[in-house]
Amino acid sequence: MPFVPVDVLLKQAEEGQYAVGAFNCNNMEIVQAIVAAAEAERAPVIMQASQGAIKYAGLDFIVAMARQAAEKASVPVALHLDHGTSFAQVMQCIRAGFSSVMIDGSKLPLEENIALTRQVLAVARAVGVSVEAELGKIGGTEDDISVADWEAMLTDPEEARYFVEQTGVDSLAIAIGTAHGRYKGEPRLDFDRLAKVRSLVKIPIVLHGSSGVPDEAIRQAISLGVRKVNIDTNIREAFVAAARRVIDAHPDEIDPRKILGPAREAATAIIREKIRLFGSSGKA
Ligand code: G3H
Ligand code: 13P
Ligand code: ZN
Repeated sequence: MPFVPVDVLLKQAEEGQYAVGAFNCNNMEIVQAIVAAAEAERAPVIMQASQGAIKYAGLDFIVAMARQAAEKASVPVALHLDHGTSFAQVMQCIRAGFSSVMIDGSKLPLEENIALTRQVLAVARAVGVSVEAELGKIGGTEDDISVADWEAMLTDPEEARYFVEQTGVDSLAIAIGTAHGRYKGEPRLDFDRLAKVRSLVKIPIVLHGSSGVPDEAIRQAISLGVRKVNIDTNIREAFVAAARRVIDAHPDEIDPRKILGPAREAATAIIREKIRLFGSSGKA
């Protein structure tokens, strides 16, 4: 079936009190793994393309692979731009067929973030594409920052209320202590902050940097209103570890299919696990 807008999936998730998995796709094997996992779990799913993925595979290839996978799929699949950098990039993605975009104005001053998000919404609404925005700064795990600086990066609940009121955006990514990439220790999530945001903001909340967050914390975040959970790093780890196992066991292997096939299977397995954790299994 054609790509489904993310806001449709998140509305259903809100009704059912679960979260939809948003998995980053970088190559054909991962696109196939995401859809295979969603079909095996009878779950709605979001495939998302990051800046790195677009640079690596090219926008046209990502859309072509994702479309092929979605059209054959018997479950709803969305194609979403992850951390969109500019109005121009959002337009390119909408034109290429994405059903959802993120415009990440989190590095901008509040009013500029609002203005950029509104500009994107004005166009996206007209063509039925959903929009995710970000407020607060979701860092990388490599950032060596003090506790005071860390707290300053987190989303201010009152600002979130104002942002949503001013923009009317479909979903909001917030910073509550998660970070992209591999964590050095165990991540500490500010659930009080999430609960406060949730009490002031009635749209679905998005959790970025979710790889490496303990299952119990993910469950709690979902119980507090997170409806889209982004996973990239855990897929990379599973994919590369499986490929490495084949290479280590068979150093003379030169058939890429013998290496990437098991990597695709490992990616499918971890995505299925996440879908079950998020409660979206059986919801398609
Ligand atoms: O949001 C960040 C993604 O997890 C990875 O981004 O593909 O640009 O490295 P990248
Ligand atoms: P992880 O790589 O930490 O899972 O983060 C993914 C993400 O937030 C993509 O936007
Ligand atoms: Zn992210």
